[in-house]
Amino acid sequence: AVKLLADYTPPPVMVDNIDMEVQLHETKTVVTSVLTCRARPGVSVLELDMDSSMVINTGSGISINGAPAADVSVSAENSKLCIPIPGDVSSAGASFQVQTKVVVNPEANKALEGLYMSGGNFCTQCEAEGFRKITPFPDRPDVMSTYSTVIIADKEKYPVLLGNGNLVESGACENDTTRHFAKYVDPWPKPCYLFALVAGKLVYLKDFFTTMSGRKVALRIYVRDGDIPKCKHAMESLKRSMTWDEEKYGREYDLDIFNVVAVADFNMGAMENKSLNIFNSKYVLASTETATDADFISIEGIIGHEYFHNWTGNRVTCRDWFQLTLKEGLTVFRDQEFSADMGSRAVTRIGNVMRLRSAQFPQDAGPMAHPTRPESYIEINNFYTATVYQKGAEVIRMLYTILGPDGFRRGTDRYFELFDGQAVTCEDWIRALAEANPDKDLEQFKLWYSQAGTPKVKAVVTEGGAGSNTMTVHFEQTIPPTPGQAEKLPMHIPIAMGVLGPDGKPVAFRVGSADGEPVMETVLDLKAKQQTLVLYDVPSGSVASLLRGFSAPVDLEYVGITTSQLCFIMAHDTDSFNTYEASQQLLTQAILENVKRAQAGESMVELDEQIVDAMKLNLADSSLDPMLRAYVLSVPSEGTLFEKVELADPIATYRARKFVKEQLASRLESTLRKVMADLEPKLGGEYSLDPTAMGNRALFNASLELVATMNAQEDLQLCLRRVENATNMTDALAALSILARKDCEESTVAVSLFYKKWSHDYLVVDKWLRIQATSAGANALDVVKQLVSHPAFDISNPNNVYAVLGGFAMGNPYGWHAAEPKGAAYQFIAEQVVRIDKMNPQVASRIVSCFTRWRKFTEPYQSLMKAQLEFIRSSPGISNDVYEIVEKSLA
Ligand code: ARG
Ligand code: ZN
Repeated sequence: AVKLLADYTPPPVMVDNIDMEVQLHETKTVVTSVLTCRARPGVSVLELDMDSSMVINTGSGISINGAPAADVSVSAENSKLCIPIPGDVSSAGASFQVQTKVVVNPEANKALEGLYMSGGNFCTQCEAEGFRKITPFPDRPDVMSTYSTVIIADKEKYPVLLGNGNLVESGACENDTTRHFAKYVDPWPKPCYLFALVAGKLVYLKDFFTTMSGRKVALRIYVRDGDIPKCKHAMESLKRSMTWDEEKYGREYDLDIFNVVAVADFNMGAMENKSLNIFNSKYVLASTETATDADFISIEGIIGHEYFHNWTGNRVTCRDWFQLTLKEGLTVFRDQEFSADMGSRAVTRIGNVMRLRSAQFPQDAGPMAHPTRPESYIEINNFYTATVYQKGAEVIRMLYTILGPDGFRRGTDRYFELFDGQAVTCEDWIRALAEANPDKDLEQFKLWYSQAGTPKVKAVVTEGGAGSNTMTVHFEQTIPPTPGQAEKLPMHIPIAMGVLGPDGKPVAFRVGSADGEPVMETVLDLKAKQQTLVLYDVPSGSVASLLRGFSAPVDLEYVGITTSQLCFIMAHDTDSFNTYEASQQLLTQAILENVKRAQAGESMVELDEQIVDAMKLNLADSSLDPMLRAYVLSVPSEGTLFEKVELADPIATYRARKFVKEQLASRLESTLRKVMADLEPKLGGEYSLDPTAMGNRALFNASLELVATMNAQEDLQLCLRRVENATNMTDALAALSILARKDCEESTVAVSLFYKKWSHDYLVVDKWLRIQATSAGANALDVVKQLVSHPAFDISNPNNVYAVLGGFAMGNPYGWHAAEPKGAAYQFIAEQVVRIDKMNPQVASRIVSCFTRWRKFTEPYQSLMKAQLEFIRSSPGISNDVYEIVEKSLA
């Protein structure tokens, strides 16, 4: 059934408190709940969400105010428990107590939603609608309650018992000495999706944090025996997050304990359950030997993300799931800013934009396009998307740009002041910002919440006549049609810009009139469909630097910009995002030109000398951030290139991209080798995570990757040595991924020795699986089939599935499309989707997304992909999750 935002009605019954008792057992966990309810006038039946996987005795399992409930029924598909409320009980809005008792089977729960087992321990995942699989409840975020939870389990097998809030009591069970209990009380009203419990054999790293008002908070990270040494980085990140939220937002932690638990089986990244965050272990565990620089950075970001949810998500939550971006967009923005403050701001920003473009832009251009606040869905789990998260964060970033740092902070203060303890909407968020900034008009801006699609902005820059010293920038915006939205209104798009003079120096210019204040940078509020901006005091021969810092999530076309102007920007712009962007534009043009040639059977054209020189200049400039130099050198991904054309030919794109990469390698060879030689001495010594050290590794590895495209024996040997002997995972993995893409002796040796070395560490094995799935060439399908039957691969583990099947279908465009016979890879993945869907619909639905853009590809690819979507649709018993993606893709 389709759910609509427009159908929202307030909850008929509120639950002010819930007392739970969870008698844990692997196959028969008994959950008893007492709900303290208040019904709205006229409500005569209490409807609680439940799930067909639970056993419930409607005859004797339910009581109201201590008396057995009469006429209890269960709705179709066991989705609702309907309990008539006797008239005398609910009169005059009085509160009444309803007790339910159900039995659930955690061991059989392979969907990893609700209460399940991972590595022999119990854990939970309730967002979005998993709580109803634990106990009958009005499972919607606008029902906020205080909780007390008694957890009871076998003492030997489950020595650690964790719940939300404060531990108030624990001990042995009187009636059964093999069992023990712990009672937790969470005083902060919360929606049920933030409920969590954990029970098992766990050890912890402990620390503490003193908040700005002097509260001493006990911090613990729980992991499996032996993993404590890998928790240090997560713990440091947690303390930094707590300080940062106090300093930047004035937000303080509100309980005496904060726990993080790492589990190996988890559908997503992590979950912000109140005071008991549960993490996919890959976002907690890290050591220099086993984690890459990228892992360290994402651990810091995700630890921050979940911690920041305590205010943006938990204290102020969402009224309904259509508002998901209210908490996710804002919290992603906060974690991005946290990462920018902890590391290099410029580099962090480039990483954010790369992710937006590779994951969100394609979504916005395809059949699953939806506004950051969707208006309808079949399965909410399908809307934990790059649009809700990453584009949602861009929406917040634009607000930050429009309001300025102080205005934005006044706005968030107002937001917390107005809505603490409430479940609210995106409108409420904008209202708080607007109230705190009465001089700003945010009405038109709200369209970012309701209009889908990536706006296209065309900019035409013209210089005034001789001696006039003016520059005119003409903008035009169009928003492409998306499913259900044919016509769009112009949006409010903040465009940050500056000017580079003919000498390459930044120009102080005046905006709007010749006697305006001189500025080095301005932000234009593009609001109309067409708008013209005149800049004064601009010397002739200047170049405009537009959309600095990627100030809006749009597709900018700088009409008529020349190769030499782009090279000029690359060399001189003070905005490092635009330095990077210019290089990407240049490489994109070069590749797309060659794609056409490859399709026409013509020979490819060499890279323009100007581009080579600009690249050299950048590469050799040791005053620049080395990570930025590495980014400038990165060749746009195939996924980004597909977006730039009407119909994408995956094989021609692969060839053209490979050719340009080889061009960069051969034309820059001596510079690349010099860079490597200069970096070599800096790479040894103590491993450090400071941005320069990480940048040096990235630049060395990017250079090595390029030179290795020429397959010189010495480079291949160097890679092999690095796989074997590198003292950190960043270098080892970079070398492995270079070799895994090749068909040579060193490649085979590297792949097998890496496995031998790391087979005891499942997170490293996961990297090994992914590298092969993403790097294999025309024989990738065979490689993937072997991986799926490898003893290290477990189809019920989401990380394994994402690494092998996701890595192949979404991270290896060439291997995926080139498999022979044509379409064989599509068929294999479709079969796996159907198989996984029977256990874990959320994971199946993430994998099936590899087919959504089938229309983007040339024949025969598109028809062959479409056929697999039809096969999946016709498979008996597919989940709502998979059905929604397949159906919308075919529509
Ligand atoms: N709220 C979590 C986060 O962003 C995501 C959990 C979503 N899980 C799910 N199964 N839909 O941090
Ligand atoms: Zn989140």
